[in-house]
Amino acid sequence: MDSILVTGGRPLHGEISISGAKNACLTLMPAALLSDEPLTLTNAPRLSDIRTMTQLLESLGCEVASLQDGRVLAIGTEAISNHTADYDIVRKMRASILVLGPMLARDGHAVVSLPGGCAIGARPVDLHLKALEALGAELDLREGYVHAKATGGLKGGVIDFPLISVGATENALMAATLARGTTEIRNAAREPEIVDLATCLRSMGAQIDGDGTGTITVQGVDRLHGATHPVVTDRIELGTYMLAPAITGGEVELIGGKRSLVAAFCEKLEAAGIDIEETERGLKVSRMNGRLKPTNVKTEPHPGFPTDLQAQMMALLTLADGTSVLEETIFENRFMHAPELMRMGAQIDVQGGTATVTGVETLKGAPVMATDLRASVSLILAGLAAEGETTVSRVYHLDRGYERVEEKLGACGAKIARVAGA
Ligand code: UD1
Repeated sequence: MDSILVTGGRPLHGEISISGAKNACLTLMPAALLSDEPLTLTNAPRLSDIRTMTQLLESLGCEVASLQDGRVLAIGTEAISNHTADYDIVRKMRASILVLGPMLARDGHAVVSLPGGCAIGARPVDLHLKALEALGAELDLREGYVHAKATGGLKGGVIDFPLISVGATENALMAATLARGTTEIRNAAREPEIVDLATCLRSMGAQIDGDGTGTITVQGVDRLHGATHPVVTDRIELGTYMLAPAITGGEVELIGGKRSLVAAFCEKLEAAGIDIEETERGLKVSRMNGRLKPTNVKTEPHPGFPTDLQAQMMALLTLADGTSVLEETIFENRFMHAPELMRMGAQIDVQGGTATVTGVETLKGAPVMATDLRASVSLILAGLAAEGETTVSRVYHLDRGYERVEEKLGACGAKIARVAGA
């Protein structure tokens, strides 16, 4: 297994281009199933999770052409030959559940494996299933699979989520586009990836209002047509790389970045003493001198502070001049990076969903282990600031969500290399 070797202590200067959003692309790809005409996605990120979704769509009988070195995905769904999403693919990636709504809406039946456990908590799919039931689906759970049927097609209805779920909102939204009549999705997720999905669906002929707010209204149509859609900028990749000059010092311009994508995160970064400037091409982040200031962070659904930036923000706050409290409200068990950061000299006390971080003056390089996608990149950020060498092992997590991380950081002066494992 490969690892990443980082030699810390170098301020970063330069620019980093931000890729298309992994999480948007993972819902846009299954949206292709809603039409029998091709959907072309531009600005796609080149990541292992995208290859997994490609594999899943291909297993259903779709044709997925990867063009321009993976930047463009052309998805043809004319011939769906199989309506079962197999456990072997679904267990690799939870987002596989996103084929359920579109397949059901298109053909009135679908079988999808239950995703099972996950490193950052239980993460059930009950909200996805209840939403589809509200649209008239009949569901049966047998031998680890959801067997879904909608005899005579899905019917519009009211979906009132008891808690906000990004994935369940996406599944409901996709299914509702082809349901007969009007669907109202209440307590909907408001993430930019939802707005991107709705924008793509509208360009395929769907009638959707209210995306980006807590109530989305969908007027079902008989069919959707093909379209070409650019994937929105990855706000989590953006936030992660904004933290790179923040933790090392220096100045980096994030090309394609927009403050509106990461507003709550920017406020916390500025509270920690980081300068953020909007430029014509993106966002410029700098930290020229002085210790970082402590700040408290609470993760929340969008537009709050994203859970997917909590681990990286914790890496930064380990070096603040004082104590910061980080509260994780979205996922249980999402502090697995804390003990690894402590191996590098960080002082962190975790009690349930709260981590108290007492800043230290320096971190020291150490061998550490990635436990999930965002945890792995938080360890790389810590390694960039630490004295000496840090080896981050199990980087397959990283490759799920970060494209060419060594090249992007290396171009700004970081000493970082991938070491091929046995
Ligand atoms: C998506 C993102 C993930 C991000 C998360 C929260 C993708 C591919 N992944 O994940 O990177 O961390 O949003 O911003 O877009 N829940 C239930 N029942 C359900 C569904 C969810 O109880 O049926 C719970 C979850 O366990 C969690 C909370 O709801 O505690 C929010 O999860 P959700 O928004 O659904 O996350 P994902 O869509 O899986």
